[in-house]
Amino acid sequence: MAPGYALTVCHVLGLLLLTVTATEDFDWTKTEKGAFYYGTFPTGFSWGAGGSAYQTEGAWDRDGKGMSIWDAFAHKKGKIFFNDTGDSSCEGYYKVKDDIALIKDMKLNHYRFSISWPRILPNGLKSHHINEKGIQYYDDLINQLLENKITPIVTLYHWDLPQVLEDKYGGWQNASMVGYFNDFANLCFGRFGNRVKYWITFNNPWSAAVEGYETGEHAPGKKLRGTGAYIAAHNMIKAHAKVWHTYDTQWRSKQKGLVGISLLADWGEPVDITNQKDTEAAERYVQFSLGWFATPIFNGDYPQVMKDYIGRKSAQQGLGVSRLPTFTSQEKSHIRGTCDFLGIGHFTTRYITQKNFPSSRGSSVFTDRDLAELVDPRWPDPGSEWLYAVPWGFRRLLNFVKTQYGNPMIYVTENGVSEKTTCTDLCDEWRMQYFREYINEMLKAIKDGVDVKGYTAWSLLDKFEWDEGFSERFGLYYVDFRSKDKLRYPKASVQYYKRIISSNGFPNQREVESWKRKATETCSSSNQLLAADPLTSHMEMVTEIVVPTVCTLCILLSAIFLMFLLRGRL
Ligand code: NOJ
Repeated sequence: MAPGYALTVCHVLGLLLLTVTATEDFDWTKTEKGAFYYGTFPTGFSWGAGGSAYQTEGAWDRDGKGMSIWDAFAHKKGKIFFNDTGDSSCEGYYKVKDDIALIKDMKLNHYRFSISWPRILPNGLKSHHINEKGIQYYDDLINQLLENKITPIVTLYHWDLPQVLEDKYGGWQNASMVGYFNDFANLCFGRFGNRVKYWITFNNPWSAAVEGYETGEHAPGKKLRGTGAYIAAHNMIKAHAKVWHTYDTQWRSKQKGLVGISLLADWGEPVDITNQKDTEAAERYVQFSLGWFATPIFNGDYPQVMKDYIGRKSAQQGLGVSRLPTFTSQEKSHIRGTCDFLGIGHFTTRYITQKNFPSSRGSSVFTDRDLAELVDPRWPDPGSEWLYAVPWGFRRLLNFVKTQYGNPMIYVTENGVSEKTTCTDLCDEWRMQYFREYINEMLKAIKDGVDVKGYTAWSLLDKFEWDEGFSERFGLYYVDFRSKDKLRYPKASVQYYKRIISSNGFPNQREVESWKRKATETCSSSNQLLAADPLTSHMEMVTEIVVPTVCTLCILLSAIFLMFLLRGRL
């Protein structure tokens, strides 16, 4: 995992290569899936798990932390399932030691977490006030990870913009965020960069832009249809590039780290592979999500198909300019090549077919693409409504990235599956199956020549799932959100993932087939512990609420009794 000191040279060479390697065409017809592949990952392959600040930390108003757009959004009634909030979540802020023990026990090579911008800069701005207690928290986390030989992979923006910046400037609708984000990132490089060697600027900017500023399902809840997401994304891409250059010019030679971005990319498979319209629609599906961000970052500008479709629809709507903003030629060269590694978050796949949406019916990122998404009802979907398990889509996606962007170095930054909150079964058969098959498809992709260096299971813990609140559980560890101490319990998939890690893959059929059985043997005892937990919570309630209340009442009554007694005597 050491980034290596020859990085600057590599980057220059990389840039030269990029300009001469024309992007290959992805072969849509190559659909053979192949049987399960027994084999191991390259030596040094990095295994990890992850989470993010707002989803896990809690302590939303502690030790000088400022408010983020997610604090404000979740506190409004009716925005989040069950009106849940991340106010306390997993209490990760107070449980660094415990969580590192879990990570260590799994023998993970890396742990991915994010820094909460308002925990460090409560007013968003570096010039105002730096919250040293916030810095201290991340210092401790990083130090403890390193003491345990776990590499930190750190995300700078996992959606929790300081609320002040939203109130004052309209958040990512405003180009001034580029400079403010750069100041924040620069501060992080300065304070943590002597120890952190893997930086991710943005996590899944697609969601932050589309759900934050187009559909309004996520914070800050703006519904600026047809324009909001494009403007937000435009500013995020510029901010990413600026931060990469800041690192490159001011820190790289000293700190020798890498700066990348993490993009969420579901796969889109043509409904009918022999139908050109379907294939084009499937490609548009991928270009309007992954390509929206990856194409400027690798090639300097938006995908041609986005420029064509949004431009045409904008003209039909009588607009003088496209709703998709443009980069100046200076900006294009500033943005091109600003990625030392590409983070890929991947969960699911859709079948795609062509479908026209007349521009007269209003505009949105979704109707601009002229396509329809379909699913196969046979695909398993144990948890989140949108998450169907389709392992072969992962290999297709990774090969697409290889051909489109000149075979970049990839870290899988998120991959996993959820279950409904009502499910308290720790013997999570479906998750073991999901990891087994998705990780196997990733191995096949590596055999195809895709340069995947690491894998991050999503997520270490059950946590706050944005607008879904706590109703979906992605964790390897079950978190009992009812207990005051947010107790963690291993699901069977912990054991299963541990076996994959210790074998660095899937050594042979006999061994791999025994893993599920062995993992399930241990989870029944965890199930019993969890079942006993309501009793523990009940005891907590007795000691913390009932006992003090009864004592106070007793004291009061004795006082009154005493008063009467004294009066009688006088
Ligand atoms: C992607 C987001 O980055 C992550 O925070 C979330 O937990 C997963 N999607 C699952 O919804």
